[in-house]
Amino acid sequence: MKAVILVGGLGTRLRPLSINTPKSMMPVVNIPFIEYVIRRLQGIGIKEIILAISHLAEPIKKYFGDGSRFGICINYTVEETALGTAGAVKNAEQYLGYESFVILNGDIFTDLDLSTMVSMHIQRRAKITIALTPVVDPIHYGLIETDIKDRVMRFLEKPSREQITTNMINAGTYIMEPEVLNSIPKQKMFSFEREVFPPLLQKGEPIYAFPSSSYWMDIGTPQKYHQLNRDLLNGQSNQFSFNNDSHILIGKNATLHNTVEITDSAVIGNNCSIGQNVKLNGAVIIGANSIIGAGAKIEDSIIWRNTNIASEATIRHSIIANNCYIGKRSSILRTVISNNVSISAGRRLKPDSSIWPDTYLDKN
Ligand code: GTP
Repeated sequence: MKAVILVGGLGTRLRPLSINTPKSMMPVVNIPFIEYVIRRLQGIGIKEIILAISHLAEPIKKYFGDGSRFGICINYTVEETALGTAGAVKNAEQYLGYESFVILNGDIFTDLDLSTMVSMHIQRRAKITIALTPVVDPIHYGLIETDIKDRVMRFLEKPSREQITTNMINAGTYIMEPEVLNSIPKQKMFSFEREVFPPLLQKGEPIYAFPSSSYWMDIGTPQKYHQLNRDLLNGQSNQFSFNNDSHILIGKNATLHNTVEITDSAVIGNNCSIGQNVKLNGAVIIGANSIIGAGAKIEDSIIWRNTNIASEATIRHSIIANNCYIGKRSSILRTVISNNVSISAGRRLKPDSSIWPDTYLDKN
């Protein structure tokens, strides 16, 4: 069986992080997001993956290459202009052949049991099987109603409170028969959710659901991206564990001064240097080659690679991307900082800020 992963979205809600880092390459506990997805597919015996890319294709191609490093064959389709979820899969038709295939939204992290989903799809002779996940507040989502045997009865887009009959939403994982591609025009912007599934359901095609309450998180916004990282450190998914009771993972050649205090859980990347009296509280992730200066305090935050946090800086509930410099005694709260940002010493950023790439902020 083959799989298509959709990784060509603009990721507008994830800005400024997604301006020059594709959503699929955002580090999750120091590993590119999509690597988890690829390893999961490889783990259930999928041997060929098509990555449907649109903008920011190069970093993805450079990292995954032909896939041999991951024991899998990877092909790429690159859309000149984004074709939407269905248009992107139609664009990959040349690689798909005559068998059922898997489609995954490339921004969803889940422990869903894909092998059982495939077996159910075959057993029910479904044309499409859509994974479903429960949400707490269904009003913001497209809902999917099913009968007692999980056959899809209705798609309900952004319902009013009175219309809500289910809390199950489309979980962004599908199994499909190749005939579905016949209902998608070539080189045209086309959406599965709006333009493929509802008309096929109307025609009476067998569309089934695969409900699952396994861990599920889409990284559509900085808040959700941050939550996924926290959840992994807190042991909520079976795709990451510390393998020790200390809840601390330290990469190769990383050095920690013997006065460093780690209160909860921390993952520190290769070649990092963590200085004297640094305090790490809550879930803290630090990417490779980063330097944390003496007396800095970092709480519930994610720092990517090659970033330098100078001494006595305070970083709380924030995300700081690659190649940043955060000056001495500066203070950052609930802020998202994109790549290549430099913040001068003593600067107190307004809480809840978003800093665009390549910005220099002088003292306020
Ligand atoms: P927003 O701009 O913040 O809505 O994010 P997005 O562009 O990623 O859109 P959305 O979250 O709806 O996308 C769901 C998944 O489909 C993501 O993995 C996207 O990368 C992918 N996707 C969305 N549109 C396209 C497209 O036109 N082409 C391809 N190849 N993938 C797409």
